Amino acid sequence: MERVKIGLIGFGTVGSGFYSLMEKNGIRFKEKLGVNIELAKIAEIEPDKVLSAFPNQKVVQNFKEIIEDPDIPIVIELVGGIDTAYEIIKSALLKGKHVITANKALLALHGDELFRLAREKRVKLKFEASVCGGIPIIKVVRESLIGNRVERISGIMNGTANYILTRMTEEQMGFQEALREAQSRGFAERDPSLDVEGGDSAHKISLLASFSFGQWIDYRKVLCEGITTVTPEEIEFASSSGFIFKLIASAELINGRPAVTVFPALLPKEHPLASVRNESNAVFISSDFAGPSLYLGRGAGGNATASSVASDLGDLVQRIVLKTKGDIAQIETSNRSELYPYQDISYRYFFHFITENRPGIWAAVTGLLAENGINIESVHQKWEDRSKPSNLYVLVDPAEEKKAKKALNEIVSSQGISESSRFYRIIQP
Ligand code: HSE
Repeated sequence: MERVKIGLIGFGTVGSGFYSLMEKNGIRFKEKLGVNIELAKIAEIEPDKVLSAFPNQKVVQNFKEIIEDPDIPIVIELVGGIDTAYEIIKSALLKGKHVITANKALLALHGDELFRLAREKRVKLKFEASVCGGIPIIKVVRESLIGNRVERISGIMNGTANYILTRMTEEQMGFQEALREAQSRGFAERDPSLDVEGGDSAHKISLLASFSFGQWIDYRKVLCEGITTVTPEEIEFASSSGFIFKLIASAELINGRPAVTVFPALLPKEHPLASVRNESNAVFISSDFAGPSLYLGRGAGGNATASSVASDLGDLVQRIVLKTKGDIAQIETSNRSELYPYQDISYRYFFHFITENRPGIWAAVTGLLAENGINIESVHQKWEDRSKPSNLYVLVDPAEEKKAKKALNEIVSSQGISESSRFYRIIQP
């Protein structure tokens, strides 16, 4: 029977999850593919982390011992972070090794260079585990939907943010308390600003959109807003109007150009993504022949993410050992177009004005909305304590982002209206 050696670099949450998976289910590669996978070496800067649990395992401290080993054709990078992970992946590709990674931040930043290098070296850089943990969504867009044109992807791609919004909605919890809970449950990034300010979702949607639309999308150009401004009062008002707050990452082609955004959106309660709770992730894809399809699951965690690493390993084994032909090409990173300008996208909006209590405030708000051609659907003033500013909520008909932004800027320049007034976008199914 064929034997394939692999090297694992990094033994943190995902690395140890992958180890457990191979111990328990490694036999499945033998049964299904007729190949013995041998975990030849693990590189870990703290070898005791591995050896205390698995004393017979071959552990090295320096990842170069895996990169330099000619008998290891597949390297699994699970160290996270940017600098060392970049060095690992680049040097492995240069040595002609296939690489599997879960590192979305690194791929979003250096993916164009690394995918190009992989193509030049005729090896694969696989990354299923980097987008939505255990949901096999890269395989879906690259393989399962190959006969379709993907028109729109929208999803909840950050478990931490979804957990926080769920707890704020269902338990009337404050943002900080909900964040602490999420961190203690172990799915937040080391730097949670990536979770709550939308950066992690921007990394994931730009990778997914790049593969779906066949062109490299720079995550730094994506409209990216997080959930840090959302208050329990806004959530309560949205709920009483039939909406639920979710951090939505989305991508669609408008006039042939990708429009890619991340922001806290209001979803009608009947939207398929509205019922996705806690740390779950979900991706909703519209494509021309399959129509709408929804993928739901665990977006983080050692075991779920390890499942996607194993999926990539299965693909590589089929390719290099069984020499299956017809592998789907990797992303063409030199193919780029300007993103569709998000300022031209139209949404319904939920404005939240924080205002003084005096005559003329409503007149300023409604007058400036009208001057910008924005049609009001409903107005609600939430005002419990006369000594405090009032909360004026205004729902409006669809308007272009640039008009909504201009109206907001003009309104907050009016006397008596706070600069922290804001709007949220409403996403229809
Ligand atoms: N921190 C991410 C999340 C998990 O909360 O979804 C890893 O992508």
